[in-house]
Amino acid sequence: MESVSDRQMIESPLRVEGVVTPPGDKSVSQRALLLNSIANGKSHISNLCEGDDRTSILRCLIGLGADISEISTCSTHTNTECYEVVGNGPSGLTEPSEVLNAGNSGTTMRLVSGILSGQPFLSVISGDRSLNARPMDRIVQPLTKMGAQIIGRCNSSLAPLAIRGGNLSGIDYKMEIPSAQVKSSLMIAALYAKGHTTITQPAQSRDHTERMLNSMGANIQIDGLRVIVGESDLTAVDTEVPSDISAAAFWLIAGCCHPNARIRINRVGINPTRAGVLKVLESMGANIRLENLRDEGGEPEADIIAETSDLVGTEVGGDMIATVIDELPVLSLAASLAKGTTVITDAAELRVKESDRIKATVDGLSRLGANVKERSDGMLIHGVQRLVGSECDSYGDHRIAMTMGIAGLLASGTTTVKDAHSAAISYPNFWNTLYDLSSSSPNS
Ligand code: S3P
Repeated sequence: MESVSDRQMIESPLRVEGVVTPPGDKSVSQRALLLNSIANGKSHISNLCEGDDRTSILRCLIGLGADISEISTCSTHTNTECYEVVGNGPSGLTEPSEVLNAGNSGTTMRLVSGILSGQPFLSVISGDRSLNARPMDRIVQPLTKMGAQIIGRCNSSLAPLAIRGGNLSGIDYKMEIPSAQVKSSLMIAALYAKGHTTITQPAQSRDHTERMLNSMGANIQIDGLRVIVGESDLTAVDTEVPSDISAAAFWLIAGCCHPNARIRINRVGINPTRAGVLKVLESMGANIRLENLRDEGGEPEADIIAETSDLVGTEVGGDMIATVIDELPVLSLAASLAKGTTVITDAAELRVKESDRIKATVDGLSRLGANVKERSDGMLIHGVQRLVGSECDSYGDHRIAMTMGIAGLLASGTTTVKDAHSAAISYPNFWNTLYDLSSSSPNS
């Protein structure tokens, strides 16, 4: 195996074996940094997510005057690196003198916009080319209804967004898509709004914000798919972030699909609103075991062991999609190596992620000989059970880069992933871990 600047060349090893601890959960990390920045008091956050998305949220919060620093002694009793946030309450932030740069991170832009809507000053938030092409009207509309003044490109549907906040009032809002980013943006703005804000979701999306706000003493009620948030002051909480199930998913699929594999993945967050990948793999007959189940600060976690399996096709759609949205590209790889047909429906949201992930997945897997058909809201995959290495692109999207990396681990011959550094958006150590797990010579 060889690594040439921005390309990774991967061959399938005889055996895939090892123990992996993926980086901290990106969604939990971003919420912990952001909510503690507007809370009262000092908090310690350990095992934070890694990569460019972490830099993006830190840059935006520090641009708003948040007091965040790396420290060496942590009150969460862990040995991993630790950040201290000193919150000065809901009005503790200051007008940024420069444009806030959310980089490639949709969660950063949408959640920080929730905070900005509550601030009595002007901010401008922008991102990279991919983020500035992603839909922002989904937050602009309801935040405007709450009283924020927001303008952006394309009739305020695209970033950069200029936001002058303050004087918000609670609204009753029915969401059209099950987006945790939209829900969380509104919940955060609701902390600053007079009265109550009621948000009704069409299906359950990840509930990390609800859990964290609860533990911080917010005025929040949950009634099925309805979340009601009242004006609140938050109390800082320490957080030991679990490993990211979205990063773990790559090793789960590597372990299940390689003909001679056993991978143990440590401390994975298995919040049921995130763990759809485990359910889908279970329905495909995966050889997966959970050990050491425990609760860490209101979020369930476990160690997961994935071993060589005989996977069969399955159906993924409806309310389940929100629980597995980020794992669908790598699950499509598993489906390509399974027996039978897999149908993915109701997943049109994939088209507005860091790339059009339906197009990117179909393109990448087809290049390796998979039988994957594009549908407007998903994919139809006939398992071919054998992939052949080829050259493919990351589309500048971290999850596509890693999906194709795992495909290379499972395909015969050599797979080359171009623009492979994109993996560093969420998993800077991904390629090293992949090579570490590949213990022996090629199996082609
Ligand atoms: C996220 C929610 C999801 C997910 C994204 C992270 C979050 O987006 O795709 O990677 O942290 O809230 P949507 O909620 O917009 O689907």
